[in-house]
Amino acid sequence: MSPILTQPGFVIAIILGIILGLVCGIHGEIRPHIIFIIADDLGWNDVGFHGSNQIPTPNIDALAYSGLILNNYYVTPICTPSRSALMTGYYPIHTGMQHSVLYGAEARGLPLSEKLLPQYLEELGYDNHIVGKWHLGFWTGHQDYFDHTAVENPGWGLDMRRNLNVAYDLHGQYSTDIFTRESVRIINSHNVSSPLFLYLAHTAVHSGNPYEPLRAPDSEIQKFSYIKDYSRQRFAAILSKLDESVGEVVKALKNNNMLKNSIIVFTTDNGGPAAGFNLNAASNYPLKGVKNTLWEGGVRGAALVWSPLIEKSSRIANQSMHISDWLPTLVEAAGGEVTKGLDGLSIWSALSKNKKSGRQEILHNIDDIYGNSALTVGPWKIVKGTTYNGIWDSWYGPDGRTGYSYNVTLVQNSPAGLALKSIGNPVTPEVIQTIRNQATIQCLSKDTPVVCKPLESPCLFNILQDPLREGEFSTKDILTAYNKTAVPPGNLPLDPRGNPKCWDYVWTNFGDNS
Ligand SMILES: *[C@@H]1O[C@H](CO)[C@@H](O)[C@H](O)[C@H]1NC(C)=O
Ligand SMILES: *[C@@H]1O[C@H](CO)[C@@H](O)[C@H](O)[C@H]1NC(C)=O
Ligand SMILES: *[C@@H]1O[C@H](CO)[C@@H](O)[C@H](O)[C@H]1NC(C)=O
Ligand SMILES: *[C@@H]1O[C@H](CO)[C@@H](O)[C@H](O)[C@H]1NC(C)=O
Repeated sequence: MSPILTQPGFVIAIILGIILGLVCGIHGEIRPHIIFIIADDLGWNDVGFHGSNQIPTPNIDALAYSGLILNNYYVTPICTPSRSALMTGYYPIHTGMQHSVLYGAEARGLPLSEKLLPQYLEELGYDNHIVGKWHLGFWTGHQDYFDHTAVENPGWGLDMRRNLNVAYDLHGQYSTDIFTRESVRIINSHNVSSPLFLYLAHTAVHSGNPYEPLRAPDSEIQKFSYIKDYSRQRFAAILSKLDESVGEVVKALKNNNMLKNSIIVFTTDNGGPAAGFNLNAASNYPLKGVKNTLWEGGVRGAALVWSPLIEKSSRIANQSMHISDWLPTLVEAAGGEVTKGLDGLSIWSALSKNKKSGRQEILHNIDDIYGNSALTVGPWKIVKGTTYNGIWDSWYGPDGRTGYSYNVTLVQNSPAGLALKSIGNPVTPEVIQTIRNQATIQCLSKDTPVVCKPLESPCLFNILQDPLREGEFSTKDILTAYNKTAVPPGNLPLDPRGNPKCWDYVWTNFGDNS
């Protein structure tokens, strides 16, 4: 991972600081700025707008209530597959990215034949910047929040760069602050005669290294002394810094008179690692499972999209959506069109006008190495097999409902809330209350236990009702049809040349340097 980086060998299209192409607008109007903020490992129940009162996320929440809360939105269960789907518009089974994550010592990347989201936007005149985590070719997928090293087989090394240079100078500075400062700098120095695409990929709230997995400034941790669970308290501080970052970015857009012509996406990359999974303390309550499982807690993503360009805003969007849909959706919102057949569908007008989404099916994944797969067709979801031999197939808290209260004023007075108000989009207590109630999934009823043993036979659910095992359906056939189109997973063994100790204890794109 690196604050700014590109895939080795890939055209230097997404390196920060490169002003790309001619800048032209639609009929003289500038295309919307697109600010895509992706959080790492954030759980369904970690955002305030889904009903938890435990950890305030007022800036994220203000955008959610003013924009669209994506209520039927799915990501993939883990980092690399999700990011590949976002960047290419394809399901990971079609790019060989379906199994697990990319490792720093693995000589592999997203296939160079793929055309990526920023390349589509470049053709529309966008000025592209990336800040944060890439995880689609070389370097690693996490780092310590202060020393910026990553512990990962087969070693330990620094993993922070500015453009392609190793950023030794950032030692001791908090990752989330670094990414925020860089993003604000990009916005402040942006020449608004061209549209901006800023891909801000936070490392928060991913755990860092095993020696201290959940690091945040002590003063931030102090604010959460009311949370007695040690890990959750530290998680809260990491999340709070992430929320603060969202506020700073929205404020910078407002200060530079860009907010009114912006599309802001905030999404997680996968479900949350709860209850100690990955040394972390996220919550997907009341959804089942964790990151890297195909249960709803692993794949139903916390997300919102905000923009004055959305015609019917300030509501729950029930439109079915997959992370691969962002590419064609954002290209359409920018006034372009993707003519190539992707797995992703543009649902921009469905979202904007509150019409039915064209998406009928969502393939959650097929991973024949783990031996699990899942597919949703309409209200039906089939799950075959599972990961970790089923030990993470349960429900985990905290629910964050009782013992804490939700502060509406905090949302209104947050930097994001105030910025929205200043451009004529105030969020009122009534709207907050109504939308938040709609976005809160009521607890699944405990008196209808579901008999589901995915290691023995596939489980079929009706996800609109409490999970049921009933109904004749062709989900199995559709899954088989998808499987026929899959390419083999591209995973490679770790390459000894990738060991950071060969490169002065820095994670390196070793294939390029040797
Ligand atoms: C912004 O870009 C336009 C078009 O290239 C140029 O004319 C203008 O001088 C630039 N403004 C600044 C402040 O650099
Ligand atoms: C969205 O779907 C949920 C059920 O999943 C339903 O309770 C809610 O009323 C729907 N909201 C809208 C605005 O259609
Ligand atoms: C809610 O937040 C505001 C800050 O905007 C603060 O002044 C107020 O004391 C908070 N209310 C509660 C009950 O904590
Ligand atoms: C997909 O096809 C392969 C053989 O090509 C088979 O081994 C595997 O079990 C299939 N997976 C699913 C989920 O059907």
